[in-house]
Amino acid sequence: MTENLIVREPSYEPDWLEVRYPYDEAARHAGVEAAARAWLARQTPPWQLVDVGAGHGANFRYYLDRLEGAQDWTLVEQDPALVAAARNRILALAAARSWAVEENDGTLALAGGPHPVRVRLVTGSLLELGRWVNLRQTQLVLANAVFDLFTPAQFESFAAELARSQTALFMTLNYTGMDYAPPSRADRLVTGLYEAHMNRPRASGRGMGKYGPEQMAAILQSQGFHLTEGESIWQVPPGHQVMQRFLLGFMGEAIPELPLSPRLRGVFADWLSEKRTQSANDQLKIRVMHMDTLALPHSSVSDF
Ligand SMILES: C[S@@+](CC[C@H](N)C(=O)[O-])C[C@H]1O[C@@H](n2cnc3c(N)ncnc32)[C@H](O)[C@@H]1O
Repeated sequence: MTENLIVREPSYEPDWLEVRYPYDEAARHAGVEAAARAWLARQTPPWQLVDVGAGHGANFRYYLDRLEGAQDWTLVEQDPALVAAARNRILALAAARSWAVEENDGTLALAGGPHPVRVRLVTGSLLELGRWVNLRQTQLVLANAVFDLFTPAQFESFAAELARSQTALFMTLNYTGMDYAPPSRADRLVTGLYEAHMNRPRASGRGMGKYGPEQMAAILQSQGFHLTEGESIWQVPPGHQVMQRFLLGFMGEAIPELPLSPRLRGVFADWLSEKRTQSANDQLKIRVMHMDTLALPHSSVSDF
């Protein structure tokens, strides 16, 4: 059954990352974030922060004004187009605030705000994090919406590297499920197909998909991390047609790539058409459930 599967590697458009930003912002779990900030407040600034799978810099933008202290960021992203987009966005943000920017060797130093901020942009894989950053000098590794498509083995070696250096990890917006209002009979079936697509076999193995938060929690705990977790839920109410078009569009691209029977294809086509009509008529609400997780190394919890 799997040999017919089309294996399309995901790519992320800056437009999509921009559209999702306010939904992420509203969804982030306040309690888990407060725990991360409280932990960071006990470390000496300038804080060494590493954002992995950084995309066009959403996490940097989100925390820049929320962290009250000097910040040295490294953004690690494998897609060079997104690294370029991140640089442009940081320059635009600094220009909009009339901050001075000095650029040296891929690092932007921003001056003029309440705290000095430096951002180093790295094009590279988070699976080789030790090549790009000194983890022993890193206080917090962050990751927003990154690990759904990673395999348990990939995450395990990533977590092992953090455990060796006793570096804390703060992951946000890891997918766990979806629901819709008004409900339809095929909702669970279609969501299940979408999640099966997340778990599809790829060159690196099967992604964790909706089981990611559970599997990552088990891996992190087995490596000695202490966890604080909380749900982060996108609320996409009627009238939010742009976000709904993206979400239904992703399903419309992904599910037909599965080796489905003609009957299931028909069920999905009818479901999608019904949801698109409801969305166009401002009658559809979609919720997307996620988990936020702060993982603190054992050595730092005892004195926390
Ligand atoms: C859903 S996007 C989220 C981007 C960003 N964190 C945000 O919140 O907008 C996932 C990102 O992870 C990146 N990514 C996936 N695998 C990676 C890897 N092995 N190393 C570095 N980045 C990776 C993708 O290129 C993409 O930018």
